[in-house]
Amino acid sequence: MMWKRVRHDVSRVAKDGAFACPRTGAACLFCLGFLMLSLFLLAGCTRSSHLDVKIGVAMPTREFQRWNQDGDNLKNLLEKDGYLVELEYADNKPELQIEQIHRMIEDGCRVIVIASVDTGALGDVLHEVESAGCRIIAYDRLIMDTDNVDYYATFDNLGVGIMMAEHIEEKLELQEGKGPYYVEFFAGGPDDSNSLFLWEGSMEVLQPYLDSGQLVVKSGEADLKSCAIDHWSVEKSRERMGRILREHYSDGSSLDAVLCASDSVAFGVLQALREAEYRSKRGKMPLLTGQDAEKRIVKAIMSGEQSMSIFKDTRLLAQQVVSMVNSIMAGGEPETNDIGNYNNGVKILPTFLVRPELIDAQNYRKVLFGSGYYNEKDFEE
Ligand code: BGC
Repeated sequence: MMWKRVRHDVSRVAKDGAFACPRTGAACLFCLGFLMLSLFLLAGCTRSSHLDVKIGVAMPTREFQRWNQDGDNLKNLLEKDGYLVELEYADNKPELQIEQIHRMIEDGCRVIVIASVDTGALGDVLHEVESAGCRIIAYDRLIMDTDNVDYYATFDNLGVGIMMAEHIEEKLELQEGKGPYYVEFFAGGPDDSNSLFLWEGSMEVLQPYLDSGQLVVKSGEADLKSCAIDHWSVEKSRERMGRILREHYSDGSSLDAVLCASDSVAFGVLQALREAEYRSKRGKMPLLTGQDAEKRIVKAIMSGEQSMSIFKDTRLLAQQVVSMVNSIMAGGEPETNDIGNYNNGVKILPTFLVRPELIDAQNYRKVLFGSGYYNEKDFEE
């Protein structure tokens, strides 16, 4: 789109020092005045040309810190680029999200960015986008079983599962042949395609140790179906961990590691362990994994209750998606860095993967405070 090119030209011109008069080489009031007037007029054009372009942002829930950040980041960046934004949260209800997307299409949104509640439930509503000329970007969660999705932007979720599992492998010295250890698994929501990627990533690392007996799942609940936690719920994780502790660990056996698929899941597991006074009774906590670097989990890393989390810099993901939107609106091809791996059952989606990063007691300060993601003051009691 013209306005983008113009805007870039203006910044290049300013950088190249074109404020200097071509004739005298010095800053000339006439040139400066002319340039400022042009900039003023261009800014006016830019605003008005973008103000009628609507972009929809459909988020799954306000329940967890990350989706609030994702929604806010996207809205702010899109608005900064002059778009009108319709931002909705679906309270983890697939039907509500379908209704919201339907409305966004009716309202004429040109692009809709969707982090789906149920990654397999959007096929029908997305049929409508074809005739409406609206483009769809799957945000963080892959939208399954439909042709009507154009791009995918996410973190490497297989990689997240691998990092969590490698943390357990390293801390329990499994490569050195140590064990047997008791481990329990808490997976993500069954309606979320990320749960499967994460499970596959973690099993790629840990399955050999389960096969050799170095890792033992004392509860016997060792497949994705039995370990899945609906909507990655804190409460459901707390209940399941409480039950497993009562049924399988009240004989004094030590639980050595719990692979928790996210910080919300880890927080529920943590609550159950606190309720059972696990740390004071057994002398130490099991290894606990997580992802999202939620504040409450960073606090638990600081107090030594939680071993690690995965930092997914939602600022970078939002920036990438906004640049995708800009490319689409300019009639170009958005930048992607994975064109062969994300098959939604109907087609392979051009994808942009952002790299996640492990945080633990050693590096959280540098990674989270150093990057300005959090302010250290927020963690002072
Ligand atoms: C996201 C995770 C998040 C989880 C629960 C997943 O789809 O990838 O970052 O923790 O949903 O909200």
